[in-house]
Amino acid sequence: MNTAGRIPKEFIDQLLNRVDIVDVVGSRVPLKKAGREYMACCPFHNEKTPSFTVSPTKQFYHCFGCGVHGSAISFLMEYEHLEYVEAIEALARTVGVQVPREGADDAPKRKRSDGSLYHLLEDAAVWFQGQLKQTSTALEYLQQRGLSADIITRFGLGYAPAAISLGRQLAHYGEEKLIASGMSIRNDAGRVYDRFRERVMFPIRDRRGRVIGFGGRIMGEGSPKYLNSPETEVFHKGAELYGLFEARQHTRKLERLLVVEGYMDVIALAQYGVTYAVATLGTATTPEHIKQLLRLVPEVVFCFDGDRAGREAAWRALENALPELRDDKEIRFLFLPQGEDPDTQIRQVGQEAFEASFASALTLSAYLSSVLQERYNISTREGKSHLLSEGLKLLATMPVILLREQLLGELSTLTNTPLEVARRHLRGNAPVSAEVTYNRSRLGDQDVRRTPARHAIALLLHYPVLVELAGSAEQILEYDLPGMNLLAAVVENIDEHPHIHTAGLLERFRQTEHEQVLMRLSSWRPETDDEAVIRREFSDCLQQIRRQANQQRLEALLHRERTEGLSVQERHDLLCLLSELHNLGV
Ligand code: UTP
Ligand code: MN
Repeated sequence: MNTAGRIPKEFIDQLLNRVDIVDVVGSRVPLKKAGREYMACCPFHNEKTPSFTVSPTKQFYHCFGCGVHGSAISFLMEYEHLEYVEAIEALARTVGVQVPREGADDAPKRKRSDGSLYHLLEDAAVWFQGQLKQTSTALEYLQQRGLSADIITRFGLGYAPAAISLGRQLAHYGEEKLIASGMSIRNDAGRVYDRFRERVMFPIRDRRGRVIGFGGRIMGEGSPKYLNSPETEVFHKGAELYGLFEARQHTRKLERLLVVEGYMDVIALAQYGVTYAVATLGTATTPEHIKQLLRLVPEVVFCFDGDRAGREAAWRALENALPELRDDKEIRFLFLPQGEDPDTQIRQVGQEAFEASFASALTLSAYLSSVLQERYNISTREGKSHLLSEGLKLLATMPVILLREQLLGELSTLTNTPLEVARRHLRGNAPVSAEVTYNRSRLGDQDVRRTPARHAIALLLHYPVLVELAGSAEQILEYDLPGMNLLAAVVENIDEHPHIHTAGLLERFRQTEHEQVLMRLSSWRPETDDEAVIRREFSDCLQQIRRQANQQRLEALLHRERTEGLSVQERHDLLCLLSELHNLGV
């Protein structure tokens, strides 16, 4: 990658004004005109009716189904699996311009600190691959495990030798980077050595294909069987799925994903034609995993060993899946015969029979009710009420969807409890949360409450012209409320670039502290495009902000009046505030 200086923000503004997102998307995905926007079936998740929209005025795309959204740059990054800079370069090529760089001398300082970790890990992966080719014992081991040369290449398998040190090979990165990447360890005596020695190496890639860590298997017996990279700046086990990148490379529009437990399972399945398996990395399935999976595909099958550990893992997965369920998503649980794992199973039965077994896999609701019935003896009244009580606790974590209603009906029948009684208890379990979770996650913003400030920012992102109603950035900063810094920053940016559109605005905040929040807020789309309504909404937000700020200031002044007394100026302010609040009808 080009390591020259930063790309000037002004260039990115101009570039986004010169390219048309409709062309960028349209040359890759067939678009249909629908009113002022264009629509298509979303290229990032599987769907039959289009919910992916592209807006020429905002130069912005958004999918109502899976929540992806962004500028032409983001689109290329996601669709073509490009890095930020690569996406800019690709866009620049289409309009025949060169990408300028700012003074190269301060570039290394400004570069994101994790940039070089990716390079280091990529170099490590390449080096391990080279070592594997030269190590007949390791090649024999993989051969004996039944892996083809093709699949070894596809998954980039390698070998960490005993005699030569990776740390020495990559010494130019420096010890601190090597340790930060997880490839080296410093022991108590201060000596730095390689984490992985004499192991077959499985590179773990993120969604974009960047190597972020490794799993290393000992050849033959020994402990630990697998050694994994530790959590690092770029590797978060709870968020990553082994094999997801490879699966998406193989099939752009995945129909379903199969979740298994091991590296070898993913690889063996792929070799036998089941190219959509992913594995958690020696951890339980996290809510983060489930969110990602359900975003990508309508059907997720969890495949576990039939033993006790497998059943426990399945139950954990179920608990974490409940809050993420939607009526258009399906989750199934497949339990393998005792002593088998997907690797051994597929080699025995082959692709066809293996895939056929999904049909008899338990649906999530069947699995849930079968476990509850195993746990409680419903021939007694106590057993019935325990079952119902536990069942309702689980249902309380679900969004309000049809499936929840059906399960509620099922539990009430099973325990001879009138439906209305069960429902009342369910409400008691979770007064509001379920409804709220649904609304929030539909918008793709789990943790963000809709405050007036955030709402105002979201509206500004979509309709920068609203800035004329907003007052100046300085005025906004005087309100001592959360979110004002960001609101002021957005206002300031629009003031400086009056013709900026949604995508341009978002790009100006890329790689700043505000990037994440703004990306989330940009998925809050106004429910109407009636400009009068939107202006009113925006004014309402501002008024609420003003009111909150005044209220706060009023309380502070009243408090001081009681305690220390007020200056003349403060007394004047207090009177103004009181009369303003009076006029606003508070
Ligand atoms: P398994 O013990 O089921 O191994 O661990 P496996 O996948 O069948 O591997 P092979 O077939 O013996 O080579 C499943 C997963 O648990 C994690 C790894 O991610 C592994 O793929 N694990 C297991 C570890 O992280 N460390 C270990 O020591 C063992
Ligand atoms: Mn195995």
